[in-house]
Amino acid sequence: MKIIRKIDELQNKTTAFKHNKKTIGFVATMGYLHEGHTALMEASRQENEILVVSIFVNPLQFGPAEDFDAYPRDEQRDIRIAEKAGADLLFLPDVNEMYPSESMIEMKITDRVNVLCGRSRPGHFDGVITVLTKLFHIVQPDRTYFGLKDAQQVAVVDALLHNMNFQAKLIGVPTVRESDGLAKSSRNVRLSPEEREEAKGLYQALIQGQKLLLEGESNPSVIIKEVGAALRKTTTHEIDYVDLLSFPDLKEINYIDEQIIIAIAVKFQDARLIDNLIMEPNGRIIMQFN
Ligand code: PAJ
Repeated sequence: MKIIRKIDELQNKTTAFKHNKKTIGFVATMGYLHEGHTALMEASRQENEILVVSIFVNPLQFGPAEDFDAYPRDEQRDIRIAEKAGADLLFLPDVNEMYPSESMIEMKITDRVNVLCGRSRPGHFDGVITVLTKLFHIVQPDRTYFGLKDAQQVAVVDALLHNMNFQAKLIGVPTVRESDGLAKSSRNVRLSPEEREEAKGLYQALIQGQKLLLEGESNPSVIIKEVGAALRKTTTHEIDYVDLLSFPDLKEINYIDEQIIIAIAVKFQDARLIDNLIMEPNGRIIMQFN
């Protein structure tokens, strides 16, 4: 595995791969790698000749009151994990390399963001599409892999790729969970032992929602209410949202007759956790998005 910190160097390498007709799979991350990230790398290795992984904590996607400085980082450990996961190139730029001067262009996504996390994190997805546009131009991937754990991000990347005519194909990979159902996240290390115990309630509440779908419930508000009630039983922390929307359009619906997402977010002391299930109207879980 080659570690690359400069844009030019990576772009030269990926251009050479393209000339040699090698397929490039790309996994973008902010590091502090865990099995969720390596599942994306594994999926990429199955389908592409070259695996490029990036690790960059992107300041643009953090709000002023958010945890950019406190975001967990461990470069040496990440390098070992990426190497073991079979990355060919590991891109580790610093902030000056990615944003050398004030940008002359501002990107703004207007659809799929006035709900869920987009509502409580204004500007967050603008920061995500900006960094990803840069990374896609640098890496030139044939396929790019994103976790369904961040389902709104998948919907946003889907919009970015289609609206801006990127050739890369988006693959959504199922959420990797701890044995009690908690979705793996770099932010889980910030949960106190009591919070960690409570945190499994997110997945349990989602499963309640799935159960209603399996039983034939087709009214979104009934499901939202039940999932909210299940969540409140397990935690006293602030529930940011519980919602049921069409996926990937993320529109409110009155009746469930299309692919949907049930999504929740809870604010613990030092970590805001999100989770979701994407399902058919009959409750069958969608295992891949592409
Ligand atoms: P990060 O939070 O590091 O996540 C990188 C990728 O790993 C995302 O596609 C995310 O959905 C996926 N991922 C995280 N936890 C997962 C889990 N438990 N199961 C499956 N996939 C999981 O998301 C970002 O970074 C950034 O916004 C980024 C896309 C890199 C842009 O800066």
